[in-house]
This record gives sequence, C-alpha cells and structure tokens, in this order.
Amino acid sequence: MPSVFIKTYGCQMNERDSEAVAAQLVAKGYSLAPTEAAADVVLLNTCSVRDLAEQKAINKMRNLVGTARKDRPGQILGYLGCMAQSRGKELIETLPDVDLVLGTQKFHRAAEYLDELLAGKREHIVDIGVEAKSEATIREHLLNGSAKTSVSAFVSIMQGCNQYCTFCIVPYTRGEERSRTIPDLLTECRELVARGVREITLLGQIVTSYGKRDIPSLEGKSAFVQLLDAIHGIDGLDRIRFTSPHPKGYGDDLVEAYARLPKLCESAHIPLQSGSDRLLKLMHRGYTRARFLDIVEKLRRSKPGIGITTDIIVGFPGETEEDFEQTLALCREVQFDNAYIFKYSPRRDTPAAAMPDQVPQSIREERNHRLLDLVNEIAARKYDGFIGRRVQILVEGPSKKNAARYTGRTRCNRIVLFDGSARHQGQLMDVIIERTGSFTLYGDPAVVGL
Ligand code: 5AD
Repeated sequence: MPSVFIKTYGCQMNERDSEAVAAQLVAKGYSLAPTEAAADVVLLNTCSVRDLAEQKAINKMRNLVGTARKDRPGQILGYLGCMAQSRGKELIETLPDVDLVLGTQKFHRAAEYLDELLAGKREHIVDIGVEAKSEATIREHLLNGSAKTSVSAFVSIMQGCNQYCTFCIVPYTRGEERSRTIPDLLTECRELVARGVREITLLGQIVTSYGKRDIPSLEGKSAFVQLLDAIHGIDGLDRIRFTSPHPKGYGDDLVEAYARLPKLCESAHIPLQSGSDRLLKLMHRGYTRARFLDIVEKLRRSKPGIGITTDIIVGFPGETEEDFEQTLALCREVQFDNAYIFKYSPRRDTPAAAMPDQVPQSIREERNHRLLDLVNEIAARKYDGFIGRRVQILVEGPSKKNAARYTGRTRCNRIVLFDGSARHQGQLMDVIIERTGSFTLYGDPAVVGL
C-alpha cells in the first residue's frame, strides 16, 4: 500500500484537518512516511492568512517537484486546504507537476482522489466545491500518531466564518459558518475519552459563534455554552479548552462558565487585533477597546490567574502612530501572558487591501519590533512570577527536543518541562516551578506532604 507524508502550515484547525486526512488514509491501508523523500504521496495542507504562509507552501512544492519527485517519478503531489481553496486550478497551471488541489470542504475525499491518481485514471484533480455537511466529516483521529495526541485531542466543532473582518481571507477560504450538532460532538468526545484522551480542545474559526443559527439559547446560555456543559459531563475527561473565540462572544454566560465548570481550563486566547477604536471599526471587528477591557476584567474576576493571550495586527491601512500607541497602551494595561503579532499582509479580494493609506513596509517592521519588545518584556515578567509556585500539569509525553524530559501544560496553558518517565504520561500531577526558559517553565515534581 502507498505511503503518505502530510506537511501542515498555519493554524490548529489546519493541524486537525491534516490529522483527519491522515486517519482517513491510514484506515484505507496507507502508511505514514517518515520523510517526504520516502513517500508515495506528499500533501501540503496550506494557509492563506498572510502572503508569507502562501509563499512558504509554494516554495516547498517547487522544491518537491525539483528534488523528491525526480527520484520518485510516480510520486503524487497535492495542495490541500485554504490556499487550495482560494487559488484552485491556478496552482496547477503555474506548476503542472502538482496532481491534486483539494479545498477546505473536500478533505474527506482525499482517499478516493488519491486512488484515482495513483492508479493513473486521472492526471490532475481539482475539487474546491462547496459541500453541505462537510463540517461533520472532520471526525476521525489518529491517536497513536504522536504521544501528544493520545492525551490531548482537538475536536473541530464548526467550519467557516461570517464575521468578514476587512483584513481577513478566511470567510473566502473556509466559507459560511456551519456547526456540527451537540449529539454528534458528544459521541466523538466520548470515543476520544474511551481511547485515553484526558483533554479536549474545541476548534473553530470563531468557536463562540457555534450553533448560532441552529441551536436556540436555553436559560440564558448560548449554543456554545450548552456545548461546553454537555462535554463537561463526560466522565474521565479532565480538561476542556477552546480556540479561537471572538470578543463579541464573551457574554456573561461564557464568563460564568469558567467559574461553574471545573474542567474548563482558565486560559483564553482572545484576538484583539488593535487597541484603537478607529481601527477596530475599519477592521469590522464589532467591539471597542472599552468592551475588550471589560471582558478581560470580568474573566479575571471570575478566574484570577487566567492565562490571556491574543493576536494583534500592526500596520493595518490607515494606522497612525497614535492608533499604534493605543495598542501599546492597551497591552500595558491588560498585561497579556503572550501575544502573537502579525504585520498586516494585504489579501486578495478583502476590502482592506483596497483601502487608502497603506502603511509602508518599513513602518510595519518598526511597529512589529516595538510591540514585540513590549509583549516579550511583559511575558517574561509573568513567567518569572511562576518561580516557586506549585501548579497542576497534564503530562503529554516526552519532550521533542530532549527525550529525557517530559512535557505538560498548566491549566493556564503554559508548557512545563520536568524530568519524567513514561509512567507520568496522561497523569495530572503537581510540580513546583524552579526556573523559566523562553516561553517554558521548568518544574520539579512536588512531593505531597512537603
Ligand atoms: N494580515 C496580517 N495578519 C492577519 N491575520 C489575519 N489576517 C491577516 C492579514 N491580512 C492575523 C489575525 C488573526 C491571526 C490568525 O492572523 O491577527 O487573528
């Protein structure tokens, strides 16, 4: 049977999609190749959110055509996911060695198309159509794929986005919001727990919009909070996380859920994008800086010690020094545990790409550096605050960099390394933090009673 190698770019949704494709192929008898060169099929699961991500995948594919495939003339090469969706057959027109282009609603068809290509029945396949119910096809898991996934799993609860932020390509690559049902998700989560999973991260482009159109509010609880409640009831599951929410989705029902549901970990990744109300409006974000600050305050009141991270874009069209300083000021005020900073990248067909006053690249770079310095300084101080503290971690498995060390995460989603062994894997345990590294804590297993 053929072997496959899948390389993933971009977000956790993409990682999850790749895992589901791999599980589908393994179920059909494929093996997972250790390297691209050893694979009969190489698939690049792509990201379109910034130009750099697209260029990386295109360069990789050019490389594959020039190297791996030279030694293996029968090797099948394919693009999956967001860039496949947004560029379609253009990808084959510019690089005819590419055999397959599979969009974001067609992952479940990978095996059938690869069969046809491997059998030489068709030369090229491009399928980027819309498919009803495709959101419910991302459900197979490969729990033995890596040590991490056997303890912690991602579950894709919805697809698509209706927010249409003016900078963002995602509504065009992922389509309209479509949610899976609560019973379907409960079945998937129960199966995962029965297979040893202890922590589930619910995934979606905007998870807080889950079920908005199909599931009415119940006793003041949104569909998303109803889903959290349902999953919380699964015996044997220890931890629940989700990503990414939208600030507009932080109603009181969700804030209260943190206090009410002990399995819901106190960590939140809440994309801010900008600290300037003028820019938030131009971005079509649907909240103000005051509302964002209010959410953070309520969350911290509900769960002191909650880990809060964010995404910020610098150099959005029309961003003045004053706008940017408001972002800096908001970061000083909130004291994020970490922030992912992105230089604005114009995306085709998005309104912001055609807005006046595009910010020169040199200023985008300069603001990126200034914000990064501030965010890192705050993050380092927060990490140092953990030294000497006792925290609970869920142990995921051996560290990739150093197999003698084991890795786990705190409830607030910080990575902890400690000298562990296979018996720790999948355990909830307490450690005392001894020192910090770059975005890592080093812990010593706490001895009860000391
Ligand atoms: N340019 C730069 N960053 C972007 N993001 C989304 N679109 C763009 C763009 N056009 C960032 C946002 C989002 C994160 C996943 O990527 O901050 O939250």
